[in-house]
Amino acid sequence: MCGIFGICGTISKSSVNQCIEGLKKLEYRGYDSSGIALLDEGGIQVVRSTGKVEALEKKLNHLKDKKTISIAHTRWATHGGVVEINAHPHLDEEGSLALVHNGIIENFYEIKERLQSEGVRFSSQTDTEVIAHLFGKLYTNDLLTTTSSVIQQLEGAFAIACIHKNHPDTLLVTTRDKPLIIAVEPQSGQILVASDLNALYEGEFEIFYLQDNQIALIEQNKIRLFNKDLIPLNPNFEPVKIENTPHFKGEFAHFMLKEIYEQPSAIRRTLEGRYDIELNRILLNLPKSFDEVSKKVQKVIFLGCGTSYHAGCITAHFLEEFVKIEAQAEIASEFRYSEPLINPDTLVIAISQSGETADTIGAIREAKNHRAKILSITNVANSSIIRESDYYLLTQAGPEISVCSTKAFTSQLTLLYLVTLYIYQIRNQGLSSHPNWLKALRMLPAQVESVLQKKGEIQGLAKKTVNFEKVLFIGRQYMYYTALESSLKLKEISYLFTLCYPAGELKHGPLALIDEKTLTIALLGHQPTFAKTCSNIQEVQARKGPVLALYNKSQHLEQIQPEYSFLIDQEILEPFKPILYAVVLQLYAYYIALEKETDIDYPKNLAKSVTVE
Ligand code: M6R
Repeated sequence: MCGIFGICGTISKSSVNQCIEGLKKLEYRGYDSSGIALLDEGGIQVVRSTGKVEALEKKLNHLKDKKTISIAHTRWATHGGVVEINAHPHLDEEGSLALVHNGIIENFYEIKERLQSEGVRFSSQTDTEVIAHLFGKLYTNDLLTTTSSVIQQLEGAFAIACIHKNHPDTLLVTTRDKPLIIAVEPQSGQILVASDLNALYEGEFEIFYLQDNQIALIEQNKIRLFNKDLIPLNPNFEPVKIENTPHFKGEFAHFMLKEIYEQPSAIRRTLEGRYDIELNRILLNLPKSFDEVSKKVQKVIFLGCGTSYHAGCITAHFLEEFVKIEAQAEIASEFRYSEPLINPDTLVIAISQSGETADTIGAIREAKNHRAKILSITNVANSSIIRESDYYLLTQAGPEISVCSTKAFTSQLTLLYLVTLYIYQIRNQGLSSHPNWLKALRMLPAQVESVLQKKGEIQGLAKKTVNFEKVLFIGRQYMYYTALESSLKLKEISYLFTLCYPAGELKHGPLALIDEKTLTIALLGHQPTFAKTCSNIQEVQARKGPVLALYNKSQHLEQIQPEYSFLIDQEILEPFKPILYAVVLQLYAYYIALEKETDIDYPKNLAKSVTVE
């Protein structure tokens, strides 16, 4: 799960610098190690380093950067540890070719055993190295036919960029089930390849998305494209304008904190232009055919991973409760292998901040096999998930840099509330005005601002509770799903062991974990089940478990008297409460991680976008 960048036909700018810039923009795909290979008449030079791209940059001073073809890579380890020898590019035994790879070769072990029995020596533990050695073994002086023979033997998913010393003018790329773009800058004629558009610098490009099993041979000012049978094809380029917004932390110590603080404006932008207050109507500007889908739909399935899945859980609950259509949220990696009971009257709503998550793409494809209609909700225009969907809507959160998702989540929820209300409106010829949904939605940014103003109190709670060894989150209904999200936030950046259960489930097992060292964080927001959750808290307290309770204005805690508490004092409709509770617990997770001095924006072992399954 990695980022690929490559350049052919450098005219004015340094190709090494461009690769470094491109890799830095792709670091959200992995930041365990990185590497670069340059090809010119003198052969191939390779430099690799563990750690972030910055570390590679420091090692590059000696590289001769003439007119070269370059490939570069930033890695998130799948096979083999985070050591330099496993960093890409990988070479064949002779060092004649270098390649970078994103994806997983599922039959790497069989190929490796076979090659080893033929005497090939491997230097890494990666699946990628088998591609390099296979290439070396099958090489026939013809890059195209060699590549075709290589990929015929590969099972799994790959995007590959490759250079060979016998072909000093050629950059080769091929892909299966992984995104790879070829971008031509018409002005300079420079040709770039990359895992996605995020890697490109500001400017106007002609873009081609390489399709499964296609092979492209890129030379200066020339691209030759072939299908798997080696029949030449004409690539269909589309114009794209890249506007890069530089990412600055500004006055904030971390991107995560900045992004938490951006939530009021992100929610405001996500709502903007999407409702008419006078007419009490939601306006989504989707194609008319979506109205037909909304009228007919019998079942709605929300798909996503991690935080995006949690946004789906909350909305499935809201949609079923309010619109009265069967709705469920599914973890994309499970759904794609589940033989789901869906049909053309099922609407699938795929949620993804990045729009690149491999499992979500796989799940969408599974749903499409059953002819379900797909609406995707993403934060990134032109992302892969958008191209896989029948309809799409963009959250307006702006780039989210921190691996730990915050503003993307609350923007997803905002947009998903609008979608739910829209489906209701279509099916009921209008939106009910009791409660006044639009008014409540419009109040959200200011309500989040009020929560953010209590950051001192939240930081105080974090300081007091930072020494607990384990944390158990509980909640009911909307608050259970919010607790799931909050539990993920805390474990992701503080490395604390956290668990989450519906409050009513405690007595069926998790109570065995309760002791003085385990903090239970109870989200009491759901008013109809408040008394029940209070009883569950008492069960925890009876076993000497300390409790941090988050509660609402109309709720009283006399009966439980928790050790720690936080009041959310805004009046808010039940389905919208997750936004405020999530923001409190984002800040709480942030301050716990700050106390623990972890790498908050780039937590260990993770990547912002998970592009392998
Ligand atoms: O880009 P996506 O929304 O598809 O990403 C899904 C998850 O990988 C992501 O939400 C992950 O769980 C976050 N790091 C959580 O903070």
